[in-house]
Amino acid sequence: MERIESVDLRAKVMSAEAAASFIASGSTVGMSGFTGSGYPKAVPLALAARIEAEHAAGNPFRVRVWTGASTGPELDGALAKADGIEFRLPYNSDPIAREMINRGEMEYFDMHLSQVAPMAWQGFLGPLDTAVIEVAGIRPDGALIPSSSVGNNKTWLDRANQVILEVNSWQNAALEGMHDIYYGTALPPDRIPIPLVRPDDRIGEPYFRCDPGKIVAIVETHAADRNLPFAPPDQVARAIAGHLLEFFRHEVSKGRLPASLLPMQSGVGNVANAVLGGLLDGPFENMTAYTEVIQDGMLDLLAAGKLRVASATAFSLSPEAAARLNAEMAGFRDKMILRPQEISNHPELIRRLGCIAMNGLIEADIYGNVNSTHVMGSRIQNGIGGSGDFARNAYVSIFMTPSTAKGGKISAIVPQASHVDHITQDVQVIVTEQGLADLRGLSPKQRAQVIIENCAHPDYKPDLLDYFRRAKAGSYGQQSPSLPGEALSWHQRFIDTGSMLR
Ligand code: COA
Repeated sequence: MERIESVDLRAKVMSAEAAASFIASGSTVGMSGFTGSGYPKAVPLALAARIEAEHAAGNPFRVRVWTGASTGPELDGALAKADGIEFRLPYNSDPIAREMINRGEMEYFDMHLSQVAPMAWQGFLGPLDTAVIEVAGIRPDGALIPSSSVGNNKTWLDRANQVILEVNSWQNAALEGMHDIYYGTALPPDRIPIPLVRPDDRIGEPYFRCDPGKIVAIVETHAADRNLPFAPPDQVARAIAGHLLEFFRHEVSKGRLPASLLPMQSGVGNVANAVLGGLLDGPFENMTAYTEVIQDGMLDLLAAGKLRVASATAFSLSPEAAARLNAEMAGFRDKMILRPQEISNHPELIRRLGCIAMNGLIEADIYGNVNSTHVMGSRIQNGIGGSGDFARNAYVSIFMTPSTAKGGKISAIVPQASHVDHITQDVQVIVTEQGLADLRGLSPKQRAQVIIENCAHPDYKPDLLDYFRRAKAGSYGQQSPSLPGEALSWHQRFIDTGSMLR
């Protein structure tokens, strides 16, 4: 009980099973959680057990789930396994939920992460019945100490009819004071500028406010975040990082980037982490990050003094990095700020700060349209996440990927993207281990030449050049030459034969 300092609220402590009984079938539940951190770990498991029991008794029971982004196996995994999710938004990376979505057994609304809270306020998403939020503690006045992610928690706490809290004593008590919860957002026509002009500005409060009358249950937990290990960077990741660092050096020498670069946004994954590792040995000092998640590479940069501050909405750490953060929290705390995802990903702020956006992709076409989400145009991998928030508004928008996937059977550069998340205007640089394509100021045909020459794998380059040559000869129009009957034939070949190779 020591993390619950409000005497009144202590009376609401109960088991996860009792708390889960407040959630009705068919209702909408807004859960905390972002990239595997700060998600509730006991109530969703208890809810999944209850759903299984209801199904065994022949009673239908499913809920609509809203989160910040991806969560962990105790939430998405357990509820999906119990066939308890009717509808899910936004980003998902859980493998069980992914399979159900791709089998058509779960509805999934994949949306820009910055837009979730505003759309909830605008009423576009329907009512929110219950919020289930992990916190690190409750203060004597009832203020809630946020956990290892902020995500959409402020909005869920404000909008929900009833609130269930999980107080997780595994989370470091020294997280208190790291968060910056901004309460100044409003709906048009009352919206005002967000007063943040530097990545390290604090514009809000360290705590969530919550009407105690709405809190129906509090559950105490002591459970770790998901914290998946990162693979050590392989040759491909190191080559991509090398090309990118060379690009940054070149941009600084041309005076288009300051020597400390500009606030960095880095997607998650091994390639992104390798780029951060490269920056550790690079010449850039006094850097800043205005990003979505703080991953291992950023901790290293902060510890080395290369990165001055990292602003994000969540941690996404390996178990080793999480242990290090826990052990050295006092040293890290003043260099990190966790904000609502509406603010960490806000287009106004990304444009004002001039972020350098670095995100992964599934495939890019020869004109630089990027598919971040759908394998072969129809199977969802994860979701768009914050990539669109950052790509459209960045100072420079970079996408990076190995040039092939699935052991070389898939080319990441294709004649036409089978699904488009980021249109060619939002994609300024593409990097693979083969090289870097700087697309700024180029027309579509010029872009195609550079992308094929610099980024395509040698196994696919001749076929891409051949397609481009024939497209220019036989296209209906010459702005972005294409052969519609052939443009997606590489994908069909993979579906039919298991390889895009001829
Ligand atoms: N066709 C089929 N599968 C592909 C593929 C392609 N063209 N490109 C990648 N994949 C598969 C990989 O094989 C891998 O599958 P596995 O998990 O079964 O091994 C998986 O996608 C992840 O790819 P990987 O190469 O390991 O890169 P990654 O971890 O950087 O992920 C994305 C790449 C695109 C899936 C990931 O960046 C993503 O989800 N992006 C969208 C959200 C985003 O950008 N978030 C950051 C914003 S802040």
